[in-house]
Amino acid sequence: MPGGTRFRLCPPVVPLIKIYVVKVGVRFYKNEASQRIRAATPPASLNFRASVILRRVAIGAMGLERVQRRLAAPAELCAGEGEGRQTAPPCGRLSAAAAEGAATRRVGPVPMLVRVLKKVIATRYVLALREGGSLPGLVEADDLGMYVVKFIGAGQGRKTLVAEVVAGELGRALGLPVPELALVEFDAVIARGEPDQEVQELLKASGGLNLGMDFLPGSLGFDPLTFEADPGFAGRVLWFDALTGNVDRSWRNPNMLLWHGRPYLIDHGATLIFHHNWSGADRFVGRAYDAADHVLSGFSPDLAAADEAFAPLVDEGLLRSVVGLVPDEWLVDEPGFDAPEDVREAYVRHLSARVADRSWLPGVAG
Ligand SMILES: Nc1ncnc2c1ncn2[C@@H]1O[C@H](COP(=O)(O)OP(=O)(O)OP(=O)(O)O)[C@@H](O)[C@H]1O
Ligand SMILES: [Mg+2]
Repeated sequence: MPGGTRFRLCPPVVPLIKIYVVKVGVRFYKNEASQRIRAATPPASLNFRASVILRRVAIGAMGLERVQRRLAAPAELCAGEGEGRQTAPPCGRLSAAAAEGAATRRVGPVPMLVRVLKKVIATRYVLALREGGSLPGLVEADDLGMYVVKFIGAGQGRKTLVAEVVAGELGRALGLPVPELALVEFDAVIARGEPDQEVQELLKASGGLNLGMDFLPGSLGFDPLTFEADPGFAGRVLWFDALTGNVDRSWRNPNMLLWHGRPYLIDHGATLIFHHNWSGADRFVGRAYDAADHVLSGFSPDLAAADEAFAPLVDEGLLRSVVGLVPDEWLVDEPGFDAPEDVREAYVRHLSARVADRSWLPGVAG
């Protein structure tokens, strides 16, 4: 290069650059490879494998003859096993409870119960989901799962998390598609690496147990103008929302996701509003549910069928097992109650009374 400046790299720098290039290449390849593996193992195929294992466990536990009898039973006898039924959690992860449910289910409307919520430890705060009012975040946990986490330190308070568990697991027990829930143990130390001030403060205030929901990657928000829902499914969702007083399933904010072509119900934090004022909770027992804005009210919801199927299932036993999933630390020191167990009983009493009443059901009230 006559007249120009020549830059020469001194010899030790060259191998260093080579090593760096190789490292970056390996990292890139790893990311690419893991993405390809994820893409090649869609949850549906994992679900399928899981369902094969489940079926084997069920056959072993029930005996072939009873299984054949169950399969021969008319479909309408099996509660919630029609469209919209989710027998295994999404992402192919199969909870022990689901396996137990499959092994003990008999002919007849027996709801699917979760016996304990899975507990995981948060290992990484990945991203803030800014579209959520409570600033939920995407969190990676020690089981390598990804969870949408609602934080105990959020302004909405711990009762939102209680409502997520009670309503979410009640919905699941009725056969409605709710992504798997988990308790996420969060060490506030993770907050130190968070550059966003608002998120950092939220994380600092959220040490201990938080609520995680299985992340459904690539899911779409349900749009009632674009997607369809059949009257049976619409009726069951509406009945469930009416029972729990869910004000957060409107066409403006459906809180329903479509994932692999199936609908999933999320965000039950705004249900059970009676628990914000226990001393006046009795007034809510017969409170009518306003379905005018409900996202599924335009799909001719079959409420009569839903009521016939669901009302007999929501008994004290089911309610007790569902509120039993709420950790003590979200219930302690509740004004007016001596112990978490008393708060649980108050939920059971209130919801039992509401099921017995049912003047709140749209089309019944008034
Ligand atoms: N399990 C999930 N998988 C994928 N995306 C999710 C999941 N849960 C929530 N999201 C996404 O995060 C958004 C916020 O979640 P969510 O509605 O539960 O939070 P929120 O703070 O209660 O919101 P809001 O009260 O404003 O409705 C959802 O609209 C959805 O886009
Ligand atoms: Mg929401």
